[in-house]
Amino acid sequence: GRANIGVVGLAVMGSNLARNLASREGNTVAVYNRTYARTEELITEHPEAGFLASESIDDFVATLSTPRTAIIMVQAGKGTDAVIEQLAERFEPGDIIVDGGNANFNDTIRRERELRERGLNFVGTGISGGEEGALKGPSIMPGGSAEAWETLGPILKSIAAEAEGEPCVTHVGTDGAGHFVKMVHNGIEYADMQLIAEAYDLLRRVGGLSVEQLVDVFKDWNTGDLESYLIEISAEVLAQKDAETGKPLVDLILDEAGSKGTGVWTVQNALGLGIPVSGIGEAVFARAVSSKPAQRGAMRATVTNRPKTPEVPDTFVDDVRAALYASKVVAYAQGFDLIVAGAKEYDWDIDLGALAKIWRAGCIIRARFLNRIVDAYATKPDLETLLVDPYFADAVASGEDAWRRVVGIAAAAGVPAPGFSSALAYFDSLAAERLPAALIQGQRDFFGAHTYQRVDKDGTFHTLWSDDRSEISTTPSTH
Ligand code: 6PG
Repeated sequence: GRANIGVVGLAVMGSNLARNLASREGNTVAVYNRTYARTEELITEHPEAGFLASESIDDFVATLSTPRTAIIMVQAGKGTDAVIEQLAERFEPGDIIVDGGNANFNDTIRRERELRERGLNFVGTGISGGEEGALKGPSIMPGGSAEAWETLGPILKSIAAEAEGEPCVTHVGTDGAGHFVKMVHNGIEYADMQLIAEAYDLLRRVGGLSVEQLVDVFKDWNTGDLESYLIEISAEVLAQKDAETGKPLVDLILDEAGSKGTGVWTVQNALGLGIPVSGIGEAVFARAVSSKPAQRGAMRATVTNRPKTPEVPDTFVDDVRAALYASKVVAYAQGFDLIVAGAKEYDWDIDLGALAKIWRAGCIIRARFLNRIVDAYATKPDLETLLVDPYFADAVASGEDAWRRVVGIAAAAGVPAPGFSSALAYFDSLAAERLPAALIQGQRDFFGAHTYQRVDKDGTFHTLWSDDRSEISTTPSTH
């Protein structure tokens, strides 16, 4: 064999990753695709890459030097198992199979175990950055064994994006850790996108800004604390004019958001682990609401008494910026909480600071703000929540009044801002002296004798609600 690395699956992500690999010193890249026509197209278009192309999987495997290392880049799902099996049948102990798709981390845990039992290394890795990232430098989140990381690390480092001179790749943890954090990355991506969309909607519909003015606002925001890839591309999307009509393209795009599943997984897993990722949840739900044209149409026809536009302060643009920033801090805080919970549940040793570092470049959620998260975990690795890090606590506090104004105005105007308002509710919940959870405990005890604890004594109690309403202690006091 003559190739140190192979790529299976040559759709756009696979092709671009293969070209990225081929462009780095020392790599010879073998390529294989189920239909050879696609392989031929790639090698014809990119002779400079020096690909070793194979028509059959047997030839592909024979082309790889040992330990064989192949990255699978196929649409995540059932098909992945078949491709893994094709390689596994031909690979030898010590060889490495990498899945670079957006696989469900539970599948990755299973596949890693099954292949380990056969002596093979299986590495599920998150790869973020879309088509351009794959080609020019993505952020890479590999799981799998430390042994596999030894071989794979240098290869992945060579193709990853760089942030302040460091490659955006780190060994996240064993087995499914990489795909788990990629899932959470995508959940945060959903939340970030939703928050930006809410800012746009409020400024346009309540603030009265034109699309052209909004382009400038976003460009301006992109020079400060909010600097990020998603703000940058939002300005570009808004600036785009439809070729036929000359109207802003955004006004001609059907307002029903699609999704491929990673956001839903994030929320499903968070629910299971008891982590309130409300920002991500609202983002997933907002997409779902948008994609219910029948319900929306029926409601539009029914609800005629629309609220009037409320008065907006002169500071509205900056208020919305503050609301966006604070809500974004909440969304990231919740996402990092989920990673902490996942690491505990699945026994991964995840370095949150290292993770924030590799998200600074290459990936979809790359942002200046990630540097602050790196600092926060460097100062206090076991931070209770990002919201109490001194920098973030200050940043949120300084925008808090504006945040409240914006949520109030959105409600008064009848413009949905589920991301902004749920983030504020989360903030207020964590900060509250007392929560109405006390009443909920009382209700639970009333109808189901579910018991409660007291603030003034140890132990577990039940009130005899349907009897004389006296209180009994249901467990002996621990003191
Ligand atoms: C990335 C992206 C990528 C994909 C999104 C799209 O990190 O490069 O997250 O993985 O484009 O998952 O997700 P939806 O189609 O669900 O919006």
